[in-house]
Amino acid sequence: MMLSRDLLTVLHPRSDLSVTTTTRAELGITDLDAVRAAVAGHDVVINTAAWTDVDGAEAQEEAATTVNGNAVGHLARACAAAGARMIHISTDYVFPGNATEPYPADAATSPVNAYGRSKLAGELAVAELLPHTGYVVRTAWLYGEHERHSTRRPRRPGRSAPAPPVSLTPIRQPTATTRHAPHRTERSPQHADQKAT
Ligand SMILES: NC(=O)c1ccc[n+]([C@@H]2O[C@H](COP(=O)([O-])OP(=O)(O)OC[C@H]3O[C@@H](n4cnc5c(N)ncnc54)[C@H](OP(=O)(O)O)[C@@H]3O)[C@@H](O)[C@H]2O)c1
Repeated sequence: MMLSRDLLTVLHPRSDLSVTTTTRAELGITDLDAVRAAVAGHDVVINTAAWTDVDGAEAQEEAATTVNGNAVGHLARACAAAGARMIHISTDYVFPGNATEPYPADAATSPVNAYGRSKLAGELAVAELLPHTGYVVRTAWLYGEHERHSTRRPRRPGRSAPAPPVSLTPIRQPTATTRHAPHRTERSPQHADQKAT
């Protein structure tokens, strides 16, 4: 919700876009039929919905993967059926986090926790189902005007979670949610509709 609300602050005023938004109450992305119905007729789907309780994912990895992996597959399938492009938000947690310099986009993934594994499952679903029209944006340590639950912000193991599997001194770059807003994006008329989930 934090990222989607800031994205919509930028997208809604644009008169050249017709933007549809859904909340979790309106569209649970684990429901394939509902997802297919919601995606139909749209040109671009931006998925910001996710299980973001990093510590909770350790205890409930299957539930986290249902949202961050399987449901992302539902969205990708629906986009494929509708001929829509999909922009999916992922995380640096797909990496082990022990690099000494920024990761290139094609760096080998190796999540160190359940949240990272669940998000990687979503990335792989997008890559498999939308090889030419799916886009994965990995971001990190978001902050923004609409942050509601600072305790749900993804943390590397070791900050407050018990027994980190590796020893980490987190060095991370905070990312403003507004950095992901397409302030200067030029788009063609045939891709003017956007859907933010
Ligand atoms: N926050 C960060 O620092 C950070 C860093 C890296 C990547 N990311 C990624 O960036 C994206 C946006 O993060 P955020 O911080 O904006 O997350 P957020 O504030 O936790 O919002 C996630 C939204 O997803 C919804 N949701 C959860 N399960 C759903 C389901 N089954 N169906 C439909 N909606 C569902 C949540 O609804 P409820 O509120 O009702 O649960 C919430 O509105 C996510 O993909 C996240 O993994 C975030």
